Amino acid sequence: MNMDGQAEGTSSAQNVRLVFRDDLLIGRTAIITGGSSGIGLGIAEVFGMLGANLVLVGRKVDKLEEARQTLASTGAQILTVSADVRDHASVQGVVQQTVEQFGGIDVLVNNAAGNFHCPFEELTPNGWRAVIDIDLNGTFNFCHAAFQALKRSTWGGRVINISLAQAASGWPGSAHAASAKAGVTALTRSLAVEWGPHGIRLNNVLPGPIENTEGVRRLYEARNEAEKERERMALGHFGQTDDIAQACAYLASPAGNFITGCDLTVDGGRWLKRGWV
Ligand code: HXC
Repeated sequence: MNMDGQAEGTSSAQNVRLVFRDDLLIGRTAIITGGSSGIGLGIAEVFGMLGANLVLVGRKVDKLEEARQTLASTGAQILTVSADVRDHASVQGVVQQTVEQFGGIDVLVNNAAGNFHCPFEELTPNGWRAVIDIDLNGTFNFCHAAFQALKRSTWGGRVINISLAQAASGWPGSAHAASAKAGVTALTRSLAVEWGPHGIRLNNVLPGPIENTEGVRRLYEARNEAEKERERMALGHFGQTDDIAQACAYLASPAGNFITGCDLTVDGGRWLKRGWV
């Protein structure tokens, strides 16, 4: 149970386990890609409760509208934009709309991701390209388009890239995702140095399996692998979306002022146990 007597592990705006003071991100504007469900929605909930203006980017208008309703109780100002992170022109449009509505961008969370289990010999060039395009090129597109606005942030711009521990270990059965995330990790570190003089901090957050997400559904539950995967967790259970969201809030806040180019692993100790398949 949390301080309010609510069950842990839930993730609606009413019962997220808020551990920070509730004005932590007040006045900041955050773009969250893939913000209409799963980890992205969890990040939006926590950021909204902490006072941030939210810009949710997703492909499906109906999911974005549902997310807006879920987030209404946070009291956040919300802009939803239907766009594909793979399309640089659309991404520029998101940035422009954000600046028009909120006056700038302070935090960019590159969370949108694609993944499916597929042995490499069965992976088609288009399947490979789809995942690289969403995970890596999508992150490039948003960093590229948002740079000028992030540079102007009075708090020092923040970029939080959602990567994976498998970026370093490789991921048999998901070579496309591991390769894309390795690129994301390297992009974060490169830009941390290039953009440090502009006050922009970039970090990777590395989630493990998170309950009620598309990733766990398709990679583990749909393949009857969930119990085996749980056994590979050092803590013995999967995480919750707000585990990732609180880590992102920490990096977006003044507590993250001196942190750049880092990997923050939030995976219940999963990476320490061998066997990704
Ligand atoms: C083999 C597959 C496949 C599968 C798609 N493809 N699914 N191949 N096995 N299960 C192939 C298709 O056949 C096609 O190749 C190519 O991939 C592109 O597929 P499309 O459906 O046309 O692409 P698109 O509509 O752009 O969709 C992109 C996608 C899709 C990545 C394929 O799954 C998607 O939109 N996913 C977003 C949500 C998501 O994946 N969430 C999970 C993230 S989990 P051909 O050659 O036939 O044209 C994550 C980490 C989890 O990031 C960490 C847990 C620890």
